[in-house]
Amino acid sequence: MKVHVQAPGRVNIIGEHTDYNQGFVLPMAVSMGISLTAESRSDKLVKVYSRNLDQEASFSLSGLIPADSHNWWDYPAGVCWALRKAGYKFSGANIVFGGDLPIGAGLSSSAALEVAVAAALSHLSSLKIPFRELALIAQRAENEYVGVQCGIMDQFASALSMEGYGIFIDCRSLEYEHVPLNLGEHAFVIIDSRVKRNLADSAYNHRRAECAEALAVINRAAGKQSKSLREISLDDLEKARPVMLPELYNRGYFVVRENQRVLAAVQAFQRGDLQACGSLMNQSHEGLRRLFEVSCKEVDLIVDAAQAFRGVLGARMTGAGFGGCVIVLVRRERIKKLQERILEKTQASASRAPHFYVTKPAAGLKVTGLPSAERP
Ligand code: GLA
Repeated sequence: MKVHVQAPGRVNIIGEHTDYNQGFVLPMAVSMGISLTAESRSDKLVKVYSRNLDQEASFSLSGLIPADSHNWWDYPAGVCWALRKAGYKFSGANIVFGGDLPIGAGLSSSAALEVAVAAALSHLSSLKIPFRELALIAQRAENEYVGVQCGIMDQFASALSMEGYGIFIDCRSLEYEHVPLNLGEHAFVIIDSRVKRNLADSAYNHRRAECAEALAVINRAAGKQSKSLREISLDDLEKARPVMLPELYNRGYFVVRENQRVLAAVQAFQRGDLQACGSLMNQSHEGLRRLFEVSCKEVDLIVDAAQAFRGVLGARMTGAGFGGCVIVLVRRERIKKLQERILEKTQASASRAPHFYVTKPAAGLKVTGLPSAERP
């Protein structure tokens, strides 16, 4: 049996560092992604070939143990491990994949690869796993096998997005809703700062730990047992402030406000108020920069230049941060001029010129040959 799978990357419109705090996010799939072909084998071997790297790796399904190795094949291997942990029985496969997503830029190339591998193996062994569960398996691979404590946003966005829509996810209930993105005269432009997310994963895990710590202090101060920052009100936070380290207060304040911004952005998109969406994006960046402290000077330079540019409604860093991409909501007719302005502004300081991608809200995971009845 053979299968072809396409899994897109994603860009987050708003709701950063909220998913692992059980809050709200509003990402969308992008038109770039992973394209993968797989063929089943009769043994327990998985061979994976990366067209972009021109490298092959192989592993046996029975010998998988999470290790601290940080190789690209940890993602497919992690998915196999997570599928087996979830109790699925499946055979080995020959997998070939490639794609047009920039790696490590914050557009979720790893989530797209994980989701694509999970979908391919599920299809080849007729497991009929719903897309939503494939996303959860992919997240488990990343959390427990690769060792990045990511939330569910990227895998959900890759697996479950719809063309023309953003996907609003409640990361506590894991319910989601497609939000129409009627952009009219406007478009989303992604600007890759090309600052690689060095040490991003450990810094990311560190932010996550800080959020847990902030929650513990707030709970102690308020005599509550809230399970996540999602359940915290600004009132709780103010009460705890005197006993909180300033940076922990800032992390908590950012998350509470960011959740509110996501809800406001969903309503604004639903009523077609792009101006309001843009202003929420700007506020989000301000918080990420000053309170959550996950931006960097190269990204701030791009965001500042974009926000000051006529025709731009909003601009913010997107993804985990510490480099990576900026998302800009801009009038279509101003895109070319915006690119020129950003290149001009970054010329003196950036070691590599930023890259630009004009993207539409794209479709999620596609598995060729999967009957529509098996879709979630
Ligand atoms: C990374 C993670 C996501 C999310 C974002 C920050 O992309 O994979 O789960 O936490 O960072 O919003």
